[in-house]
Amino acid sequence: MKVLITGAKGMVARALAAHCTSIGDEVFAHTRDTLDITNADNVREVFERERPETVINCAAWTDVDGCELNPERAVLINAEAVETLATQSRLAGASFVTISTDYVFDGDKEGFYTQRDDPEPQSAYGIAKLQGERRAQRVSARTVVVRTGWIFGAGGKNFLATAVERARRGEHLKAISDAYGTPTYAPHLAARLRELAERDLPGTYHVVNSGAGASFLEFAREAARAAEVEDVEIESVSMDTLARPAPRPRNSRLRCLLSEAIGLAPLPHWREALREFAKQNQG
Ligand SMILES: NC(=O)c1ccc[n+]([C@@H]2O[C@H](COP(=O)([O-])OP(=O)(O)OC[C@H]3O[C@@H](n4cnc5c(N)ncnc54)[C@H](OP(=O)(O)O)[C@@H]3O)[C@@H](O)[C@H]2O)c1
Repeated sequence: MKVLITGAKGMVARALAAHCTSIGDEVFAHTRDTLDITNADNVREVFERERPETVINCAAWTDVDGCELNPERAVLINAEAVETLATQSRLAGASFVTISTDYVFDGDKEGFYTQRDDPEPQSAYGIAKLQGERRAQRVSARTVVVRTGWIFGAGGKNFLATAVERARRGEHLKAISDAYGTPTYAPHLAARLRELAERDLPGTYHVVNSGAGASFLEFAREAARAAEVEDVEIESVSMDTLARPAPRPRNSRLRCLLSEAIGLAPLPHWREALREFAKQNQG
């Protein structure tokens, strides 16, 4: 396929470009320098020139606290620009896949959030991302929304990368023990994004690794084990002790009702994914 990828410097986009290239796609991977998604003229020019068959939007403003302090900018990048991309995808005859987040939910539910649960975002980031989903779906009937969460992988500035690095240096670590999510390995997510682009079945999908999910503390301990830094002490802290500008959901574990229905196999368990990631990092 001719695949156009936005936000190409990001963690998911890099995994996606590598995956698409490895299966023989013609890949147009754009960083903000060559495709600023908030610049409608720039988007139109690039789409007219490259005529993609599918567009996979990995660009976003992912700084959750930054979004809280500047909600207008959050809407510009995470909602308005997503609508622009969806519109231009429709005009180019391309399917449109955009990534959304577990932060569209308030976190008060026990158990897993499915597509049947009403989103109730609590942060400016979550509000803008939900707006992005809806605006894209409104302007292009060929929109696939992929909600995911707790992504880990190469090149990310995520909790996991920082925790393992600090554990290796023997530094004291703290991790939240009372917030739960479903970890997602970037290359697994990338392969599923590509699969969904090809299926071209519009809808809202929840894509995460299998398993019952974890707290940050369990996730960090398992990551340290996978990276073979076992003698590390990780102190348990409560989410309430961290004074951060943006509220986060206490529980944002996701489950998909749609993937199975269209015959997609569940992604591997997150523990297996962690081991795969650790092996890649050693190799
Ligand atoms: N990471 C997670 O745990 C997580 C969880 C749930 C959902 N998600 C969603 O997953 C997607 C990918 O996340 P990620 O972790 O790969 O994020 P990331 O590493 O922060 O990458 C996002 C990329 O978007 C680019 N970008 C920002 N504004 C742009 C603009 N105006 N035009 C073009 N590019 C722009 C950034 O470029 P600069 O570096 O130049 O700013 C960055 O390279 C996002 O939609 C995010 O909301 C992430």
